[in-house]
Amino acid sequence: MRTLPGAGPAGPRRYERGWSDRALRKRLERARRSDWDFTRGRIFGSLCTEPAPAGRAWIDPFRNANLGNPGLCPGSSLLQEELVEELLTLYHAPREGAGGWLVSGATEANVTALWTFRNLTGGREVVLPRSAHFSFVKALDLLGLEARWVRVDAAGRMDVRQARRAIGRRTAALVGLAGSTELGAVDPLEELSELALRTGVPLHVDAAIGGFFLPFLPEEERRRLPFDFSLPGVRSLASDPHKLGRAPIPSGVLLFRNLEETRAIEVPSPYLSDPRSRGLLGTRPSFAVASTFAALRSAGWEGLREQTRRLRGLVERLLEGGKRLGLEPVTDPRLNVVAFRHPDPRVLQAELLERGWDVSLVQEPRALRLVLMPHARRSTVEGLLRELARALARHPRGRGGEEGRINPEKPPDRGSARRSGRGSSGRRSAAG
Ligand SMILES: Cc1ncc(COP(=O)(O)O)c(C=O)c1O
Repeated sequence: MRTLPGAGPAGPRRYERGWSDRALRKRLERARRSDWDFTRGRIFGSLCTEPAPAGRAWIDPFRNANLGNPGLCPGSSLLQEELVEELLTLYHAPREGAGGWLVSGATEANVTALWTFRNLTGGREVVLPRSAHFSFVKALDLLGLEARWVRVDAAGRMDVRQARRAIGRRTAALVGLAGSTELGAVDPLEELSELALRTGVPLHVDAAIGGFFLPFLPEEERRRLPFDFSLPGVRSLASDPHKLGRAPIPSGVLLFRNLEETRAIEVPSPYLSDPRSRGLLGTRPSFAVASTFAALRSAGWEGLREQTRRLRGLVERLLEGGKRLGLEPVTDPRLNVVAFRHPDPRVLQAELLERGWDVSLVQEPRALRLVLMPHARRSTVEGLLRELARALARHPRGRGGEEGRINPEKPPDRGSARRSGRGSSGRRSAAG
């Protein structure tokens, strides 16, 4: 029997004999039941949500098609083209030269954008705000690039003056956020765009959160928060249909002002129908394109406008309710993320978790982070506020001391749901 070094004694050969459908169903239903469920509306710590029914319906019919070999799935390829075209229009890309493709999410989009600009410019450094998502840390590591981290202000927005000083001859790209992960802050992208144009450095905008929120704000507010190709310095943009677009996971999109620039990452793929490949992945699920197409097409931009209006109403209610409980918001939220300062937010998080509510944390300043996603309802926001009142009554100032310190290395125990990566031998899957 094969054993891995350091893995301990191998378990019984549980995979030797095939299981019956009944046994499979029993095992998988048990796993499914211990996963959290968005439909209960109690998840306020995640940027994912319950996918739109129209999107879910098209997963199965497209399950076998592989977009990595587009010649074999011309139908799915056309859907992708149409979707990309619509998104380019939504994000004010120029009529000529712009393009992009669907990816698995903003992580892949951010890695691919930096890969493109590294190869295109020969630069070795990336200028990015401290608030940038950890996917950039992965990208830098993979690509052998160095970070020039830029501080953010009290509202969580990148300091443009420091960014200007950080740009130099070795800069491969400048990164700005249309919605930071912790606070939903939108960087001063107009100024960053000017800076990018003046220095000739490509500006990549990570709009994983804002991409399906900002375009649907009332006209006047939308104009005050430009984030897309309407800013001439923006060369690429990541947006995530599987967040506020309510597409099933995995669905991200990566767009370029000038698609030709992605030649910088092109490699030969001679055995496939398209003899050149530009993305990170080989085999790619067509169902992601079909179900994203269905989710967005069934809602329409009018549906997303309505969703944005509803979520903003919930943000207002949460802010008002939190303030009544004596909580101070960290920022005046622009998007769907609300953060309340507390000396010991971890203890509040633990209390809420115990009672079946998922919330998350901001590291600096210490705060409780609450994300309003489409599965949130007025009734669940009221329920959360009631639970919060209870938790605050027990821990008005937190427990303080070591116990209260936020330790990102030690996330809260979410019970069996989060232990699902552990097998009985004690070995773990990489993400478990
Ligand atoms: C701003 C931002 N960028 C990138 C990502 C990564 O997205 P994904 O996990 O879909 O790859 C996230 C995830 O929450 C995010 O908040």
